[in-house]
Amino acid sequence: MRRALVTPHVGIGQTSAKIILFGEHSVVYGHPAIAVPLRSLRMRARVEPAMENDAQSTLTALGWSGALSDAPSHFASIQRAAAVATEFVGAPDARLALTTESGFPAQRGLGSSAAAAGAVIRAIFDAYDAPATPEQIFALTQEAEKVAHGRPSGLDAVATSATAPVHFQAGRTTQLDLTVDAWLVIADSGIQGSTRETVAHVRRQYDDAFEATSQCLARLGEITTDALDDLREARVEQLGAKMTESHALLSALGVSNDSLDALVSAARGAGALGGKLTGGGGGGCVIALAGTREDARLVEAAMLAAGAHATWSHAPSSEEVAA
Ligand code: MEV
Repeated sequence: MRRALVTPHVGIGQTSAKIILFGEHSVVYGHPAIAVPLRSLRMRARVEPAMENDAQSTLTALGWSGALSDAPSHFASIQRAAAVATEFVGAPDARLALTTESGFPAQRGLGSSAAAAGAVIRAIFDAYDAPATPEQIFALTQEAEKVAHGRPSGLDAVATSATAPVHFQAGRTTQLDLTVDAWLVIADSGIQGSTRETVAHVRRQYDDAFEATSQCLARLGEITTDALDDLREARVEQLGAKMTESHALLSALGVSNDSLDALVSAARGAGALGGKLTGGGGGGCVIALAGTREDARLVEAAMLAAGAHATWSHAPSSEEVAA
């Protein structure tokens, strides 16, 4: 292992939230997925040398502060991110003060664990003026994601670092140029979802009921492939219908629940072209497609009335997210 020759200075890393438009869970089995980074819902990490009297690295995140090694289990991916990044830059024994600040809620299918890991890794590279390729940062983020999710497909690590929507399949990423004239409404159910648990649940289904589960996953993959054409041709009605079908399939896989189903129904009742859960499910967020900004406002209001804790609207062809 090489040793860092530089003394670290303040380092900053940034990533963002993401939503999965199509293909969560099926992507774990090699099918394609489409994800959109929400560039104005940011995750920021700051790294600096620890205070003189701190014997070890510290973490300040989500209202918690203390020694990094004592951090609660939901920060395990940040611990791993710090370990692999300091090792990579040749400073495995560094005493650092890490701070993360998130503009979006954790454990809601918006990619907070990958976003936090990616931001911390970038901040450590910045602090040591260490160059890194996107592939190296991806590989290190995946190391941290394994702690959070067990067997991550890599989609979250890619999407939270992306600057544009991406098509992702079996580790290969293609940037998409979306010019769809529609709005995505994102609604937080307020319920924490554990991606590790829902991914494990689907794995059990796959092992116990192979035929039915693999058909369901394959159909999710087909929908994703067909949705690429709809996106290219800006066929918003078809996209909406595919979102609703995806939600039904994800429900059949057992990763939805009554709250998420109610939010999808409320969105459709208010004129959304379609809706689905996004990310791991079991809680977390729902997304709905609205034809206009005005429709998006009506859909947001209906989802809030149906129990959503927060909503955001996003025009996929811009970087804009309106709270
Ligand atoms: C979680 O955001 C997406 C999943 O497909 C898991 C993965 O891709 O690793 C559920």
